[in-house]
Amino acid sequence: MDILMRNFTNVHDIGNLQQALKEAFEIKKERFKYVELGRNKTLMMIFFNASLRTRLSTQKAATNLGMNVIVLDINQGAWKLETERGVIMDGDKPEHLLEAIPVMGCYCDIIGVRSFARFESREDDYNEIIINQFIRYSGRPVFSMEAATRHPLQSFADLITIEEYKKVERPKVVLTWAPHPRPLPQAVPNSFAEWMNETDYEFVITHPQGYELDPVFVGKAKVEYDQLKAFEGADFIYAKSWAAYTGDKYGQVLSMDRSWTVSDRQMGLTRNAYFMHCLPVRRNMIVTDDVIESPQSLVIPEAANREISATVVLKRMLQSL
Ligand code: CP
Repeated sequence: MDILMRNFTNVHDIGNLQQALKEAFEIKKERFKYVELGRNKTLMMIFFNASLRTRLSTQKAATNLGMNVIVLDINQGAWKLETERGVIMDGDKPEHLLEAIPVMGCYCDIIGVRSFARFESREDDYNEIIINQFIRYSGRPVFSMEAATRHPLQSFADLITIEEYKKVERPKVVLTWAPHPRPLPQAVPNSFAEWMNETDYEFVITHPQGYELDPVFVGKAKVEYDQLKAFEGADFIYAKSWAAYTGDKYGQVLSMDRSWTVSDRQMGLTRNAYFMHCLPVRRNMIVTDDVIESPQSLVIPEAANREISATVVLKRMLQSL
């Protein structure tokens, strides 16, 4: 029986994770099995922000399913868009998102949107005002290619990767903050936590004081401020930098402490853990050359699984049209 999915923005949209994983492994064995499903259907991919993996893997997934693909980079070649309602448009933005969205919807069957947190207002970011306007006004099914608070295609690929490499039924998975020179959104760590909380893995989050994530995403995870203690006995280390979430520090870099950079010093405390990162990664800020180049590094298989997670999601959306 086909599983219906209108939109895909978070873990709850995918439903039963075991079923989703079963479909992922089926597609991994035979990735063109559903090539007829997307015949004469068009995917529109809309990027407000840059991308390498999401752009390529989602386009490949659509090709696996026989779809046509249109890619639009909003900041390159399209009119600059006003996103606030009520603004007197006498500035440098000649088109409003409220007209642009339904127009885009006229030319496709499914829309993917990438729109990062802007760090201007936590309320706006956490209300997901951009992707929610696409859901409301496009008239089309919409999926997230990383929104302000979540990156579900990445998290699904991460889950597939952990399932492929785990050596014990209930591995210890540690999400660790790492330093970065620029403030990065919380979308990847939020989303990873959201998906890990739906598994029965032992899940630990470690970060310096001040980098607490939204409790909605932390859920039942154990928070450990001592990174070395968190790494003890870990089977998977998932590194990511993020800017502060709490209070008036929202969107700020609070620390550049390179003792948090993942190196052999911390990895030596684990149970020969695998290293994971969504990429792109800044070497010797987030992780040392030695760790990312080691046989335990899963960054490339993780990226490869982005094609699989996107194929499952698009397949379900096509089956729901
Ligand atoms: N991991 C990820 O989403 O990569 P891109 O930003 O390159 O798409």
